[in-house]
Amino acid sequence: MEKPPIPLVIAHRGCSAHAPENTLAAFRMAHEAGADGIELDVMLSADDRLVVIHDATVDRTTNGNGRVDRMPYAALRELDAGAKFSEAFQGERLPLLEQVYEALGGKFLINVELKNYAHPFDQLTQKVVRLTQAHGLVDSVMFSSFNPLNLSRARRLEPRIRLGLLTFPGNAGRVLRGKVGLMFPQDALHPYFEDVTASMVEVAHKRGHQVNPWTVDDPAALKRLRELGVDMVICNDPAAARLILEG
Ligand code: G3P
Ligand code: MG
Repeated sequence: MEKPPIPLVIAHRGCSAHAPENTLAAFRMAHEAGADGIELDVMLSADDRLVVIHDATVDRTTNGNGRVDRMPYAALRELDAGAKFSEAFQGERLPLLEQVYEALGGKFLINVELKNYAHPFDQLTQKVVRLTQAHGLVDSVMFSSFNPLNLSRARRLEPRIRLGLLTFPGNAGRVLRGKVGLMFPQDALHPYFEDVTASMVEVAHKRGHQVNPWTVDDPAALKRLRELGVDMVICNDPAAARLILEG
């Protein structure tokens, strides 16, 4: 049988193996490394700006302390988001989503993870939809979330935007990987990479859904996913992943 095509390579939080995660440096590096896209995390600041950051606090990735949802953007933009990763990246800032769109919009796929898990009923999805429309990026942006309500909101507001349903590893993700997950609009399933099976891919493809696992850098796992015919792999080192996938 013919081998399935090589999956698209999506850089998780940018090229986060070699640059500070979720910074413009990491996103640009992913583009230069030939990634097919980036994944990034977005949530609202205290004054409702769309800030690109993974954790609910700034403590791990910046030189500051505190919750993102209690800090206005004026305070967040003062923080250094690069030096903790390496001195070479000192001066990197927490980007706003609009800055990522301005720098890289339309150049490759931007997978925006809607990360309002602490505030599931906030206006995050509505704001990201509006920004994506305003930048004319509906065709080159994809949303994903572990909160499936975000997918329903996005589909209502912008039927053309591609949607990925994120599911937690193992048992924690079982319900959403099954029939319950299908109650929510989606174009793709975004499972933890170890949960991907041949039948998962077959069933999803029959429904017209992609399978885009996260977050995988292990060579054997990447080869397995390629054999299974997944559509994208979300990885921290896109150049290394591509070499493995093409090998
Ligand atoms: O979107 C895939 C992956 O980013 C989900 O987990 O915690 O890295 O945002 P996390
Ligand atoms: Mg993420």
